[in-house]
Amino acid sequence: MLQLGDTAPDFEAQTTEGPIRFHAWIEGSWAVLFSHPKDFTPVCTTELGAVARLKPEFDRRGVKVIGLSVDPLPDHKAWAGDIAETQGHALNFPLIADSDRTISDLYGMIHPNANDTLTVRSVYVIGPDKKLKLSLTYPASTGRNFAEILRVIDSLQLTAEHSVATPADWRQGEDVIIVPSLGDDEAKKRFPDGWKTLKPYLRVVPQPGKR
Ligand code: BEZ
Repeated sequence: MLQLGDTAPDFEAQTTEGPIRFHAWIEGSWAVLFSHPKDFTPVCTTELGAVARLKPEFDRRGVKVIGLSVDPLPDHKAWAGDIAETQGHALNFPLIADSDRTISDLYGMIHPNANDTLTVRSVYVIGPDKKLKLSLTYPASTGRNFAEILRVIDSLQLTAEHSVATPADWRQGEDVIIVPSLGDDEAKKRFPDGWKTLKPYLRVVPQPGKR
């Protein structure tokens, strides 16, 4: 089972934008790899439209996005017309055709007790170091909230740079938490303007480098 901190497995794939090798495609960026169960299905159609609409937000954060299902390339290409027509946003990122399920098996995207042939709704956020930073699994019946994926990426990018963590429901620009592993003496150097101590382990500070 793929776990946080593991290197995201490399693979070759056929996509709607041509063949890729995954690690070379990531090329030092952040990346989101997500699966959907099946082309020409309603929830998936809305999800792919939502990601196309949010693509500028992923771009702004330096994140490459790539989708996947076990449907063949001609189906992906035919379905793209329906997505543009019904969602008002045309596909603007590659979709992997994983007909032989090699990649789905590599990443554990098929959960046989849910469905033994289709991928579940998996999301993998991968860092520029190619390590897995987040994984999510949703059932076929529930469309994902991709704004939440962007929110997590904001947190991941912030906490990769600064010795902070983000509280529940945090959004870009809001106060953050000094990580418990940073003692007060070291924290004084990193946060010279100070912080609010609610408990010795709960120290709140304005977001560093706030935009
Ligand atoms: C859907 O996208 O609507 C869907 C796909 C597979 C199973 C159930 C629903």
